[in-house]
Amino acid sequence: MEEKRKAAVSAVGLVKDGDIVGLGTGSTARYAILELGKKIEKEELDILGIPTSKATEALAKKCGIPLTTLQEYEVIDIDIDGADQVDSDLNLIKGGGGAHTREKIVASCSKRLVIIVDDSKLVKKLNIPVPVEVLPFSWKPTASKIKELGANPIIRQTDDNREYITDNKNFILDCDFGLIKDPRKLEKELNEVIGVIENGIFAGFTCEVHVGSKKGVNILK
Ligand code: A5P
Repeated sequence: MEEKRKAAVSAVGLVKDGDIVGLGTGSTARYAILELGKKIEKEELDILGIPTSKATEALAKKCGIPLTTLQEYEVIDIDIDGADQVDSDLNLIKGGGGAHTREKIVASCSKRLVIIVDDSKLVKKLNIPVPVEVLPFSWKPTASKIKELGANPIIRQTDDNREYITDNKNFILDCDFGLIKDPRKLEKELNEVIGVIENGIFAGFTCEVHVGSKKGVNILK
């Protein structure tokens, strides 16, 4: 999709020689990784990437992006990642691809968080199901406790009807809360439920959002 690519190209334009770069997951982040690979080759840049998923790691390697880990570099200069939804206060829902736990850790270690989306992802208030990564050991009691917060959690499944398993070997519960009035409160409440590893609400991150549309790229801050 051209709109996603435009947003990705705009974000990769911010990467400088010597940067440690967080590499997001998903179809929009994919464009950024392809673009970054080309930029490294063309400008002979010395850059290290930290991938947020196994899929991104494999793609980055194919694109010739040298990789490192959070153990070697605890601070990331710039993190480029997609989102499933962005509200008018720049709160996000992520995790459509099941990678939000690593994505949130990488984002929280980053000096600059750049979110890349096409304009269909923008909403006034977040309103899609929140992906919640949970321990397989206790997913049912965890789901029951999340139900008490007002959602009806659905365990994510693969096309062949097995539980979807994350890179961290956990399950995902997709939790529909309808319109989310207070994302920061819900993000905290979800993470307090026993058995929850991390949820896909990113509230209160200082980020800039590069929005690709037919007309070009608009940057929201
Ligand atoms: C991965 O788990 C997600 O957080 C993605 O960043 C998000 O789903 C956006 O993906 P797309 O760019 O494919 O829409």
